Amino acid sequence: MKKLKIGFVGVGWMGSVQLKRLTERNDVEVVSLFEINKERGTEVLKSVNLLPSILVTDYNDIITNPDIDAVWLVSPNSFHARQAIAAMKVGKHVFSEKPAATVFDDFCKEIELEKANPNLITFVDYILYFDSMEQRLRDMVSKGEFGQITQIQINYRHPVNITGDKVWKLNKNIMGDAIGMGINHAISVMIFAMASQGKPVSVYATSLKSQIRDFQAEPIYNILIKFDNGATGFCFGNIDNGNGYDAYHNIFGTEGGFVFESQIDRPYKVRYWSNKTTDGKWIRPLDEINAGDLVWPDDTTTPDSGNVVEHQTGSAVGHFIDCIKNKTKSPLSFVNSQIIAEIGWAAQMSAKLKQPVLLPLDWNEAKKFFND
Ligand SMILES: NC(=O)c1ccc[n+]([C@@H]2O[C@H](COP(=O)([O-])OP(=O)(O)OC[C@H]3O[C@@H](n4cnc5c(N)ncnc54)[C@H](O)[C@@H]3O)[C@@H](O)[C@H]2O)c1
Repeated sequence: MKKLKIGFVGVGWMGSVQLKRLTERNDVEVVSLFEINKERGTEVLKSVNLLPSILVTDYNDIITNPDIDAVWLVSPNSFHARQAIAAMKVGKHVFSEKPAATVFDDFCKEIELEKANPNLITFVDYILYFDSMEQRLRDMVSKGEFGQITQIQINYRHPVNITGDKVWKLNKNIMGDAIGMGINHAISVMIFAMASQGKPVSVYATSLKSQIRDFQAEPIYNILIKFDNGATGFCFGNIDNGNGYDAYHNIFGTEGGFVFESQIDRPYKVRYWSNKTTDGKWIRPLDEINAGDLVWPDDTTTPDSGNVVEHQTGSAVGHFIDCIKNKTKSPLSFVNSQIIAEIGWAAQMSAKLKQPVLLPLDWNEAKKFFND
């Protein structure tokens, strides 16, 4: 079968891991790399046994290369949307790191372009979708193990790395908002866990300026999401500081509950109870002695590492390639993950307007808000 040809963009911390995953596959060929730091680009290419001659110094070289099927965007946040839009306009599939966009008008354009070009495969890397604990949680919720969910809390708190050349993350024009810088992972987890239960209908958020570091954009968000089944979701988001990585989950329903705590020893990280499957008793599924027959496999991953290598990178890469090969849309395409991004835009609006914002987002109102 013909190899899928990739134009890769940005081989920093995350990009170099993804490039490595791609080069480990035999169904793709990375034919071009656009990286503005030539020294790093050359070094990374060497480390994965690719020729330095595939390094290009102009993004247009990727866009105008007729051989390239898909563009892989791991550049800093503010470049994702314009690079994605340019690629989609010439019919190339797009893998985008999150966030999809840092400017609202660009986000709308991405959605419009995908809708107008149904053959294009797009993907936004909400990587926790691939975590096996999250997959189990989604499954348990959809099977009704916790009954009707009434309350769900998912946190995303850790100090984003701003050292060395990652200092761009302090700059609002490049990073965009803090929700797009990682808090959106928690929102994606919540939306997928709740998918079988209800749709989000409104957002109320507050935010706080940097307390510890020098983020231009407010790095602390508290986001309350209402669902049409009556449930309320809550997300504590903080990329300003932390003590390790906090992806705390607390889900409560009419028939059970589920708690995940990042910063304790593995057998105690996850506990749940269900009137349907545990006789209403709390069990720890990562603890064989405690869980008995309900124990989860040893290779079950949990979403509590800031380390991208441990964050299911191979699954995300494989999923996108499979979507192209099978001509199927990803649940994380720009359009299919639209609501996750809209919650981010709505939270920014709500925090400034000091009032709830309804979902789906009214694009005209949002355009007015963000362009004023
Ligand atoms: N999904 C996840 O869990 C996850 C985790 C980490 C990072 N990310 C995302 O990956 C992206 C990169 O983050 P990082 O931490 O690897 O940053 P980084 O600074 O380590 O890497 C960015 C790279 O892009 C290059 N670059 C700068 N401007 C560019 C441009 N205009 N076009 C192409 N390349 C350019 C830089 O030279 C650098 O090599 C960010 O958007 C970030 O949000 C996602």
